[in-house]
Amino acid sequence: MCGIVGFTGLRHAAPVLLDGLKKLEYRGYDSAGLAVMNDGVLSVKKVSGRIANLCEITKDGNTMPGEVGIGHTRWATHGAPTEENAHPHLSNDGKFAIVHNGIIENYIKLREELTERGYHFDSETDTEVIVHLLEMYYKGDMRKTLIKVVNRLKGSYALGVICADEPGKIFAAREASPLIIGLGLDENYFASDVTALVSNTRNVIYMDDGDFAELTSDSVVIFDGTARPVEKKSSRINWDVQAAEKGGFDHFMLKEIMEQPAAVKATTAPRIRKGRIDFEEIDISAAELAGIRKIVITACGSAYYAGCAGRYALEKLTGIPVETELASELRYSDPLIDEHTLVIVISQSGETADTIAAMKECRAKGAKVLAIVNVVGSTVAKLADYTVYTWAGPEIAVATTKGYTTQVTVLYMLSMFFAEKLGRISGKEYDRLMVMITRLPRHIQQAIDMNPRVTELAKKYHKSKALFFIGRNTDYAVALEGALKMKEISYLHAEAYAAGELKHGTIALIEEHTPVIALCCNRKIMEKTLSNIVEVKARGAEVLALTFRDNQKILSEADDLLFMPKVDEIFSAVIEILPLQLLAYHVAKENGCDIDKPKNLAKSVTVE
Ligand code: AGP
Repeated sequence: MCGIVGFTGLRHAAPVLLDGLKKLEYRGYDSAGLAVMNDGVLSVKKVSGRIANLCEITKDGNTMPGEVGIGHTRWATHGAPTEENAHPHLSNDGKFAIVHNGIIENYIKLREELTERGYHFDSETDTEVIVHLLEMYYKGDMRKTLIKVVNRLKGSYALGVICADEPGKIFAAREASPLIIGLGLDENYFASDVTALVSNTRNVIYMDDGDFAELTSDSVVIFDGTARPVEKKSSRINWDVQAAEKGGFDHFMLKEIMEQPAAVKATTAPRIRKGRIDFEEIDISAAELAGIRKIVITACGSAYYAGCAGRYALEKLTGIPVETELASELRYSDPLIDEHTLVIVISQSGETADTIAAMKECRAKGAKVLAIVNVVGSTVAKLADYTVYTWAGPEIAVATTKGYTTQVTVLYMLSMFFAEKLGRISGKEYDRLMVMITRLPRHIQQAIDMNPRVTELAKKYHKSKALFFIGRNTDYAVALEGALKMKEISYLHAEAYAAGELKHGTIALIEEHTPVIALCCNRKIMEKTLSNIVEVKARGAEVLALTFRDNQKILSEADDLLFMPKVDEIFSAVIEILPLQLLAYHVAKENGCDIDKPKNLAKSVTVE
């Protein structure tokens, strides 16, 4: 997963490209590069490391004159994150430069063929074959050449190309990797994500798989695999530039944590009409719903944990059995899925390779797929039968926060929506839950208000060797996400356990002062978790409990306490996760970690 940008206009391209790349750095941040065309000559600058290094060696782009160019920020897949492997890649004749996001699966064969034909390779990347194919096929018509080249490729690509013989033009092609055209005044752009475009334009065209584009400063032509122009509607981005900026916060992660009351409101409010939940985007009849024998939720990472947290409400309210399965497992497990299965796919980015593969597998087996997704126009959104946007706004920090809470919120609302359609919920219960849904933003804010206390606790726990997160049922689902947050940004060993499982092995790891974070917000089984707290205390653990103020028994056992707003366990996960997000954030900050760009990670995982 990488980020690409392209610009053609009447002003200096390199600073615009660098600005765009900075916005895309969340997609990959191990190397970067620019190619700019000036008077028919291409110049390329590449660096290993962050975009800041590229800004430095190009003096913020000022040493690279030219009004047309492309740029790339990389998360290495094929070949180490070196300057040689960084994009753009140049053809041997110096005529073509390309940037690519995706994976070329048949690159070894192509590389052998091209080497035999005398082309030499400067990098270890899969991408480089594309630029040599361009040189090989080019006979003066770029559109035809691009079509010929992509016909030789297997895999995924968002491709940006400049050619010294085509002054003023940038070319692009898309297959299974996101690519968006930005429409400006006397200038046009492409980028992997709208965040790289909004400071210049809000008018965009979402490219589809199989689309090609030729852009000049005053024209945009989208064409298909037969070189015929295709009519595309443009869309307007309705969030403002500040949404993708830090806005005074030290990190995007903290900003996005704080945005959660507003994000959840943006998820819920448009779908509540006259006291009822209505998903206009789900055109499914009561009869169709009644024919569904099971629901399978599939996703990766935090999105999967969102599914784990939401499944309890879904199963309880609809009475339909709900299974959760990691997308990376489901895709190879020949799952028992048919036309009587509803598959719910969850993805913030809408680009995660395993999630996309799993949804394709499920559709091939006849299931209908409902996607819960944040990024508008993303692959998951396009492939689904029903697409429910979370409307969380841009999420830049690699560690998801508002992405997760809005996903769980959608699952809560779906539970009520389906249950009502199926006639399986009483009016009284529906109204009670409706009140809880409308109060979620307020309760989330109350949880955020614990920030000063959590900051203190982070000072106590940040030097720990390992942390354990325990809970049962809905609390266990939250523990899974809490532990992942801690691991990915603080690099501390953090594990989540179903509290009842501790004594089947893991309790052996508990020693004097091992932190155990006990989630006790599920009243029905609190007593049971309490017995696990007593067990770990007896072995020297320091227990931080998340519970309600009136839970006397836990108050007397735990070393530290965080008091949660009073909510019913059916919808508690989106509130309980807040202190754990904050704890991970402050622990990582105490330890001096690069919070928004944790090591070895990138925001979306577009490779298997
Ligand atoms: C969470 O903080 C991670 N960044 C990661 O687990 C993420 O949730 C996962 O890769 C799925 O991404 P998606 O929601 O974009 O599909």
